[in-house]
Amino acid sequence: MTNHSPQLLWRNSSTLESVFVVVMGTFAEKSIALVLVLLAASAMLPALLPCSAELQRFEHPIKPDGSLSLLVIGDWGRNGTFNQSEIAFQMGRTGQELNIDFVISTGDNFYENGLTGVDDKQFEESFTNVYTAKSLQKQWYSVLGNHDYRGDVLAQLSPILRNIDSRWLCVRNFILNAEFVDFFFVDTTPFVQTYWINPEEHHYDWRDVAPRETYISNLLKDLDIALKESTAPWKFVVGHHTIRSVSDHGDTAELSAFLLPVLKANGVDMYINGHDHCLEHISSNDSPIQYITSGGGSKAWRGIFVPNVDKLQYFYDGQGFMSMQLTREVAEIAFYDVFGRTIYKWSTSKLRHQAA
Ligand SMILES: *[C@@H]1O[C@H](CO)[C@@H](O)[C@H](O)[C@H]1NC(C)=O
Ligand SMILES: *[C@@H]1O[C@H](CO)[C@@H](O)[C@H](O)[C@H]1NC(C)=O
Repeated sequence: MTNHSPQLLWRNSSTLESVFVVVMGTFAEKSIALVLVLLAASAMLPALLPCSAELQRFEHPIKPDGSLSLLVIGDWGRNGTFNQSEIAFQMGRTGQELNIDFVISTGDNFYENGLTGVDDKQFEESFTNVYTAKSLQKQWYSVLGNHDYRGDVLAQLSPILRNIDSRWLCVRNFILNAEFVDFFFVDTTPFVQTYWINPEEHHYDWRDVAPRETYISNLLKDLDIALKESTAPWKFVVGHHTIRSVSDHGDTAELSAFLLPVLKANGVDMYINGHDHCLEHISSNDSPIQYITSGGGSKAWRGIFVPNVDKLQYFYDGQGFMSMQLTREVAEIAFYDVFGRTIYKWSTSKLRHQAA
């Protein structure tokens, strides 16, 4: 399977499948049948394709010296337990050292089941009262994780939370521009089919998302348009679920199939995620994309390692977080452990990319 354009989803839709079956049953000649299917499909497209809305946009200024620095943390909200507070403390120190501009959360913000509502005290107990360092009193840009969907998902998206803690900003899908870099935040939980068809004992709050196919199709279309319109030299996509991971959850098949082709087609530099409770860097074998996992915000040490098709650069199974230091030309990432030690550094240059 190579051609996973957003439209392909519609060919999988039950309406078109039944058109296909009807046509195949009436005409023996495959080529005629195919033409008819395509005609039928294109005739139905205007009715089937939902209109897409532009992604919400935010701007963040860079520093006067032309640089930008930030921290990335994922899978964290446990009332400070499971080393969440220790990691928060080290983030504060590193944040101070790097004079960070903002923080990115890759989701699973509140365990085990998101927030129960905008008045859930967990918001303060797991966020406000944990990330107390001065350097962390910056804007936090967050996506939702699968655990967040198990509560009142609209609560985390609600602007009311900003009255309690003004750092909080969580939107399903949005673009954050900081002069030379565009971050595209993507809500990946609805992609994963098992949450819909086999949720086991969990309840997922699909309000404003269902039906799944419409959500995915719209999002991929909006993302593709936004990526094509982006003139920023750096394009980073942030989501909760992994595309490539050697840890517990491994690759996410739905993202590899549907999201990854859009990223590859549009020269995305990095895909940054959480979900697996570890730190990892994997390089794509057939594109410039770097897969970065920063999901070590609290519980970690799963003890699982499963290699995948792409090139593993680094894997740390414990708690930690990541920093990014960016200029127009250079992007540097670093991983830190629970003691604040730098355990991995990697950098790439735009000029080298363009020459390659
Ligand atoms: C955090 O504390 C709240 C009670 O204040 C509790 O409902 C929740 O389960 C706790 N979360 C974790 C991960 O322990
Ligand atoms: C917290 O971090 C320390 C140091 O790495 C580790 O020994 C301990 O097991 C961690 N605790 C948890 C709950 O992971």
